[in-house]
Amino acid sequence: MKFKYEIEGGNFSKAGNASSAVKKILKQLNVPPAIIKKLVVALYEGEVNVVAHAWNGCIHVDIEADRIFVSIEDEGPGIPDIEQAMQEGYSTASQAVREMGFGAGMGLPNMKKNADYLNVKSEVGKGTTVEIITFLK
Ligand SMILES: Nc1ncnc2c1ncn2[C@@H]1O[C@H](COP(=O)(O)OP(=O)(O)O)[C@@H](O)[C@H]1O
Ligand SMILES: [Mg+2]
Repeated sequence: MKFKYEIEGGNFSKAGNASSAVKKILKQLNVPPAIIKKLVVALYEGEVNVVAHAWNGCIHVDIEADRIFVSIEDEGPGIPDIEQAMQEGYSTASQAVREMGFGAGMGLPNMKKNADYLNVKSEVGKGTTVEIITFLK
């Protein structure tokens, strides 16, 4: 089963909408709550990163019998040093973004913790792709 969601960069009022929609679908499919929680935490952080750091993006979700595959692709400034971006507390978020309660620098580390597999690919000046796999069995 495949789903696709668009993400608007800069639009914090819609941040989390795609993650909520995926959560609802997984509940309807009777995916165990602990698995839903892990995936949705990772997905939400990825969605917020597109809103906070990129220009626009989309989320592809592919639900298979034994795994959920998510890819979050954006057009944006990209990440120059992925290893640095993965460090807890590292953030380039603007003051305005921090005042809205985002930009603690815990998003990527939390994604790493909650995903069974996480891969970040980025090209500076072009964009970023984050792949997440969560196993159902
Ligand atoms: N999709 C993205 N596009 C560009 N930069 C990103 C993206 N996702 C993360 N980053 C960079 O990695 C840093 C760390 O991300 P994260 O751990 O989610 O912290 P935060 O979003 O709170 O800053 C961000 O501050 C930003 O510099
Ligand atoms: Mg973040």
